[in-house]
Amino acid sequence: MDYKQKIADLIAAAVDNQLTADQISAKIEVPKTLDLGDYAFPAFMLAKILRKAPQAIAQDLVAKLPQDGFEKIEAVGPYINFFLDKQAYSQEILQNVLTAGTHYGDQNLGYQGNVPIDMSSPNIAKPMSMGHLRSTVIGNSIAELLKKTNYKPIKIDYLGDWGTQFGKLIQAYKMWGNEADVKNDPINTLLKYYVHFHEEADKDPELNDKARAWFKKLQDGDQEATELWQWFRSESLNYFMKIYKELGVEFDSFNGESFFNDKMDEIIELLREKNLLKESQGAQIVDLDKYDLNPALILRSDGGTLYITRDLAAALYRYRTYNFKQSLYVVGSEQTGHFQQLKAVLKEMGYDWSDDIKHIPFGLITSGGKKLSTRKGRVILLENVLNDAVDLAYKQIEAKNPDLANKQEVAHDVGVGAVIFHDLKNDRMNNFDFDLEEVVRFEGETGPYVQYSHARAMSILRKANMDIPTDQAYALDDPEAWETLRLLGDFPATVKRAVEEYEPSVIAKYAIHLAKAFNKYYAHSRILTDDEQKASRLAMVKSLTIVLKESLRLLGVQAPDEM
Ligand code: ARG
Repeated sequence: MDYKQKIADLIAAAVDNQLTADQISAKIEVPKTLDLGDYAFPAFMLAKILRKAPQAIAQDLVAKLPQDGFEKIEAVGPYINFFLDKQAYSQEILQNVLTAGTHYGDQNLGYQGNVPIDMSSPNIAKPMSMGHLRSTVIGNSIAELLKKTNYKPIKIDYLGDWGTQFGKLIQAYKMWGNEADVKNDPINTLLKYYVHFHEEADKDPELNDKARAWFKKLQDGDQEATELWQWFRSESLNYFMKIYKELGVEFDSFNGESFFNDKMDEIIELLREKNLLKESQGAQIVDLDKYDLNPALILRSDGGTLYITRDLAAALYRYRTYNFKQSLYVVGSEQTGHFQQLKAVLKEMGYDWSDDIKHIPFGLITSGGKKLSTRKGRVILLENVLNDAVDLAYKQIEAKNPDLANKQEVAHDVGVGAVIFHDLKNDRMNNFDFDLEEVVRFEGETGPYVQYSHARAMSILRKANMDIPTDQAYALDDPEAWETLRLLGDFPATVKRAVEEYEPSVIAKYAIHLAKAFNKYYAHSRILTDDEQKASRLAMVKSLTIVLKESLRLLGVQAPDEM
């Protein structure tokens, strides 16, 4: 039952509908602490209408409201605090969780509508950056949230496999390249060439012209350029795939920028037909003055296309292919301007569906307070981060639970989970400084803490070794259990909020909150004592394992049964 709705209906009736239930519902709060009740209504919003002091209104209403379904309803100053009937509430929630199992919290917001998600999208011949990690894990979690709310996500890895940088790379390879080195350690070697190219080009600007010429050749299908490009691309993709496998992330499409090379003419043609292209210093631009945006550069003076040109073709392709409800781009906030331009150009082209394109930005990861930069060689290597995290997890397990059967596997789930969780627990727009020590911390508000809480609850269930049939009524009025029960009941609404805000951190914070509540309960209660509430307590523990595991799953984090 939706208790907030119920309370709103009761109050609306008690004031003879002088305010609607919706108006009232919008004002109902969840108090910060449970001693102020489970819901609170600020009676001062009725003061004008009822022409009375808020305190008096609160008291009158309390006298009028039916108490059925509540433990108590009480007036405190201008507030009315509602305490739910713990028996009834716990019975309902435990029933819901146990019967739905992993489907608890499933809801229908999207009716199977397609939602392409542009995510990860790293650049070929460069290491995957922490920014791409953020995009990967945020996008993956949003995809899971969309599935749970009955959308159909389509995960697209829009590889950065086209553009002038490949001219630079080919030019660099022609000057300093060594085939064996590349084969041996592709990404680091290619990165070295790339960094070196920039150092040299600062001294000798002519290198940039040469690079541009190579890219032109590549665009025109020159054999040598194409072969080198393909080689760099496949080496890079192999390396990315290894990281995706580690992270447990899969994609539905790898159509990157190069896929759109032969779809560019149509875009140019369409822009021309609609009279949107203007010449500016030899280049072709779309003026976006009326959007208060810089003009979008569509074609260089040498006829080369740009990042936004390819994104225009990709957007149109996605619209035609998926007939999407929404089209999401999980890309760092530094590209906000780019996506504003992209949407504005599509709007100018007369495509109303451009309104369904959404940039999902996220903040920067810095290191020691400094911006990371591939060009300057200031990078954190993701593969090292994952490896180090797994090693550390292994050591912890070795120390705490040396007899654990599948230590290596659990260490992997915990180490990688720590990295993912750390990334997702912050509001996505927050910038954060990357500190490996902090990421692999196993106490406090971390992934391992949530995983450990889940494993601990699983071990209680193993110890109890008792069947918890779903067709029975379980009720718990134990005040120590109340916070956990309330949170279990909040899960569906939490999922809804997370997906509506495209904000996995809502789930991560919820999971921490729930794990904490349970650990507090665990510290104060003897769950396995044989009394008449034992089955109910175990039903709650089981419900907790279901919801914690499902929360972690929505984040892309595994929940080992033992650790
Ligand atoms: N490859 C780009 C980068 O690393 C990100 C691409 C984002 N997606 C897009 N459709 N523009 O900066």
